[in-house]
Amino acid sequence: MDRLRNPFAPGAGIQPPALVGREKLLEDANIDMRRVLSRRPVKSLVILGLRGVGKTVLLNRMKEDADRLGFQIAKIEAPEQGALPQLLVPELRRILFSLDLMAHAGNKVRQAMAALRNFGSAFKIAVGEIEIGMTPGPGVADTGNLEQDMPQLLIAVAEAAADSQSAIGLFIDELQYLSKKELAALVAACHEIAQRNLPLFFVGAGLPQIAALAGNAKSYAERLFNYPEVDKLPYEAAREALVVPAQREGVAFEPAAIDEILRVTERYPYFIQEWGSHVWNAAPKSPITQADVVATEPAVIRHLDANFFRVRFDRLTVLQQRYLRAMAELGPGPHKTGDISATLGVEANAVATARQQLIAKGMIWSQRHGETAFTVPLFDSFMKRQIPVLEKHLPKRRSNKI
Ligand SMILES: Nc1ncnc2c1ncn2[C@@H]1O[C@H](COP(=O)(O)OP(=O)(O)OP(=O)(O)O)[C@@H](O)[C@H]1O
Ligand SMILES: [Mg+2]
Repeated sequence: MDRLRNPFAPGAGIQPPALVGREKLLEDANIDMRRVLSRRPVKSLVILGLRGVGKTVLLNRMKEDADRLGFQIAKIEAPEQGALPQLLVPELRRILFSLDLMAHAGNKVRQAMAALRNFGSAFKIAVGEIEIGMTPGPGVADTGNLEQDMPQLLIAVAEAAADSQSAIGLFIDELQYLSKKELAALVAACHEIAQRNLPLFFVGAGLPQIAALAGNAKSYAERLFNYPEVDKLPYEAAREALVVPAQREGVAFEPAAIDEILRVTERYPYFIQEWGSHVWNAAPKSPITQADVVATEPAVIRHLDANFFRVRFDRLTVLQQRYLRAMAELGPGPHKTGDISATLGVEANAVATARQQLIAKGMIWSQRHGETAFTVPLFDSFMKRQIPVLEKHLPKRRSNKI
């Protein structure tokens, strides 16, 4: 089919041609945002899901909705090494400048500017010129303790927004990469803001382990946030994800072709986009048949292995790779942690560090104590392709031969 007209959008955070199966979530968030604007209490959102299920796409869509509703928006993608204050400062600075231009801007904006300047110097972050404003009032966001200063800073900014009849939308992606301290500070800030009923709506997104991480950071976190889970698409939505974009280009799929794609992708959004895109390019004409899909399979698998899976695999040590291979031996998961080490032929504590490192890298997670699961869908079959034979983990021994 004409590659120029290929409607599919495989990638990270790329808006799909048909954003399907997430209507309820988007509608709920929209109502929450409108409640925030009318100063009614709402819980903030933390979107949880595995790699490639569409969290970033949802976060971006909610950000657009917030923008349309008149929110002032800060959006951050947490980097793996965590640097929340550094990323937050320029976003808040920009917001305060635009609040300052608003008709109702008053003293609260200046106070928030002062808090931002205090915060910047406490954490040694260049805030840039803040010409307007007063001498920073001592005592606001200036202790150097993030858990104290971040709530104070965000309260000051939210008060400034309230004073200007506006609201703040704070969007943070890849939340699992925040350090424990940063997460605790963020949760504490949301808690304080909720108690004061200030107009700040927080939306976070990340891997499913965040719920536990946030709960460990602050025990009240589970009551503070709603944690909607995004997962593989329901059957009908997955079908629409393929059919609707193709139909707009005048192209049809035979039902058996759709079934085949939904089977191999297990209805995971990212894989649907990749398969849709490859099959489109390879199929000679409409309608796309099951045979077209099957014929494309080796090329798609090669592409996914080389791009999507391989980059994750290459960042791991040999032992970490072997740990994942042992998990794959047991199937898609989740698996008992003890079974994984037994598959490797060792005691659990011999590989406990490797397991911890894999969790920190976001490769695996633990829903329940003693359980381990992949965060990347279909990673088990990739591991088997990559390492066809599982090697046991034999701690190195000295040879007895003389
Ligand atoms: N509801 C949906 N319907 C169809 N395609 C979707 C949907 N949501 C996301 N996609 C597609 O799936 C892919 C992955 O989306 P996205 O990057 O938002 O996932 P993610 O959950 O943020 O992944 P990661 O954890 O790796 O950041 C994109 O190509 C996007 O177009
Ligand atoms: Mg993402």
